[in-house]
Amino acid sequence: MPPHNLTDAPQAAAPRFDVVAGATEPRVMAAPIFESRDLSVSYGDKLAVRDVALTMGRNEITALIGPSGCGKSTFLRCLNRMNDLIPAARVDGAVIYHGQDLYDDDVDPVQVRKRIGMVFQKPNPFPKSIYDNVAFGPKVIGLKGDMDEIVERALRRASLWEEVKDRLKTNAFGMSGGQQQRLCIARALATQPDVLLMDEPCSALDPISTARIEDLMEELKTDYSIVIVTHNMQQAARVSDRTAFFTVQLAEEGHRVGHVVEFDETEKIFSNPADQRTEDYVTGKFG
Ligand SMILES: Nc1ncnc2c1ncn2[C@@H]1O[C@H](COP(=O)(O)OP(=O)(O)OP(=O)(O)O)[C@@H](O)[C@H]1O
Ligand SMILES: [Mg+2]
Repeated sequence: MPPHNLTDAPQAAAPRFDVVAGATEPRVMAAPIFESRDLSVSYGDKLAVRDVALTMGRNEITALIGPSGCGKSTFLRCLNRMNDLIPAARVDGAVIYHGQDLYDDDVDPVQVRKRIGMVFQKPNPFPKSIYDNVAFGPKVIGLKGDMDEIVERALRRASLWEEVKDRLKTNAFGMSGGQQQRLCIARALATQPDVLLMDEPCSALDPISTARIEDLMEELKTDYSIVIVTHNMQQAARVSDRTAFFTVQLAEEGHRVGHVVEFDETEKIFSNPADQRTEDYVTGKFG
């Protein structure tokens, strides 16, 4: 077996027990899903985000918060090598996933994106039927099994099946925005990933659709690990287990560079943060 076959990545390396310091009742992180080490990203010669070192928990929801331009999306895209698709982007450092650096030379980014799904701010279904949207990924990667079952399972997982089971062959554009976003979640789940990356997945949705997605995230974390970028403080506080607060600083060359100020249990970040900048941000004094 090739040593770096991510499809067959072991479910867990030796369990590690990282206890978050300073929390009243420390939440034990049974095992990390990602560990970024000294991760920095530049676009051309401009550093965008620097030295990000975060350990994200398996079957947890990790929220990334912070003001616009601090590098949340840039960092999120490092977690499934989406920055590879931006020619100017350069990534330095490491992202350990299932004990392996995603940036090792012999890792295939296509395999990575199959295991680590992504959902974007604006629902972006393909101009195809509901069924074909979900079946697309599994077909591309040659997933084995009955396609009807694969599609149904993904739609059920995304809490959409009951609403669409009688109109699977109709165009996805005929769905509401909230349904389209759940379809995008189903599409991401259809290739059987173990991680879902979500970049402001609710910012284009009404409060009811937002609540449905938040409920869904809560359900999904029993089987998946989730990393979410959000500008909605209530959302981060409601859904996430841990939160990383990023901010931007003016670099010597005069441009703005993002970095992590504080990373801790969500409850601590929102009730008793260690850094004044975090407190100012979460209480709305800044950003
Ligand atoms: N494709 C790109 N090409 C060049 N620069 C980029 C690109 N994407 C992001 N940047 C720059 O990198 C920095 C971080 O941007 P990023 O989009 O990651 O921030 P963000 O925290 O997600 O912001 P927002 O909250 O507005 O989405 C910004 O200065 C931005 O201009
Ligand atoms: Mg962003």
